[in-house]
Amino acid sequence: MSGGEKHIAVLKGGWSAEREVSLVSGAQCAAALRRCGYEVTEIDAAPDLAARLADIAPDIVFNALHGRWGEDGCVQGMLEVMGLAYTHSGVKASAIAMDKQVAKSLFVADGIKCPEGQLIPYEDLSSRELPYFPCVVKPVTEGSSVGVAIIQEGQNELPAMFSGEAWKFGDMALVERFIPGREITVAVMDGKALAVTEIEPMTRFYDYEAKYASGGSRHILPADLDADIASQACAIAEQAHRILGCRGVTRADFRYDPAQGAEGIYLLEINTQPGMTPTSLVPEQAEFCGITFDQLCQWLVEDASCAR
Ligand SMILES: Nc1ncnc2c1ncn2[C@@H]1O[C@H](COP(=O)(O)OP(=O)(O)O)[C@@H](O)[C@H]1O
Ligand SMILES: [Mg+2]
Repeated sequence: MSGGEKHIAVLKGGWSAEREVSLVSGAQCAAALRRCGYEVTEIDAAPDLAARLADIAPDIVFNALHGRWGEDGCVQGMLEVMGLAYTHSGVKASAIAMDKQVAKSLFVADGIKCPEGQLIPYEDLSSRELPYFPCVVKPVTEGSSVGVAIIQEGQNELPAMFSGEAWKFGDMALVERFIPGREITVAVMDGKALAVTEIEPMTRFYDYEAKYASGGSRHILPADLDADIASQACAIAEQAHRILGCRGVTRADFRYDPAQGAEGIYLLEINTQPGMTPTSLVPEQAEFCGITFDQLCQWLVEDASCAR
């Protein structure tokens, strides 16, 4: 494998709530690209990002940012204006996928089942007024389970994160019916599903800690599911990727309620900048399909584009 003479700028870090995760993803992707023979410059994204990119003039930008600004179309728009080819999804797909409510409305319109939900001004979040129990309250535009809480019937007090000082996630909260059962996820690469992983959190749910603490969760790959459930989840993940016009790799997160059989597959969201450490879900599925981490990173670079 050889990256030839290409110079790749790897964007990592940034200033979203997922900064730490992105620093790890970015460093690992940069190492992989160096192994493939590319010249790599790692950039910890800050508001002077455009000037820094103009300075180093890379051939391709590898976007390893997560969360706001890096995953929501902002950085993508800047790269389009600069005429720099970049990895993963473009402006529109990124912006839509980041807004869970907007993305869900498109998924539902195309026949995909998602958990019932409502947008509620966060100031009105008192257990008394919530529409379902148990329910999940989450920010509309965050990732990594930041700000996600499960509220049980009869729970008198909302978690501290819903206090005026702690809630940093905009005016509205997304309140969804809690889907009991299992947690599954499907990576899509080049429009095709790779595999189905079941995630068994060791904590109450798949929260930030379960996602990133060592031993916080167990990945079962391939998931121990009936073949028709697994293939349906794969088809839905591909459909969701297509509906939003995604590019590169994405990861679709689901809940599966076995009590409802084939009707029990609910799409939660699609991640356009999924975690990219070698032990993250997408690289694990790629490896399972015979694609090494280095090959995945190289494929993303070769898939990079820019509309300009
Ligand atoms: N409606 C729901 N029912 C059950 N669990 C949910 C629901 N929504 C979210 N969760 C739990 O919270 C986690 C994070 O939610 P998700 O919508 O994927 O947001 P993000 O990963 O962007 O923070 C999920 O992986 C799941 O464990
Ligand atoms: Mg998720």
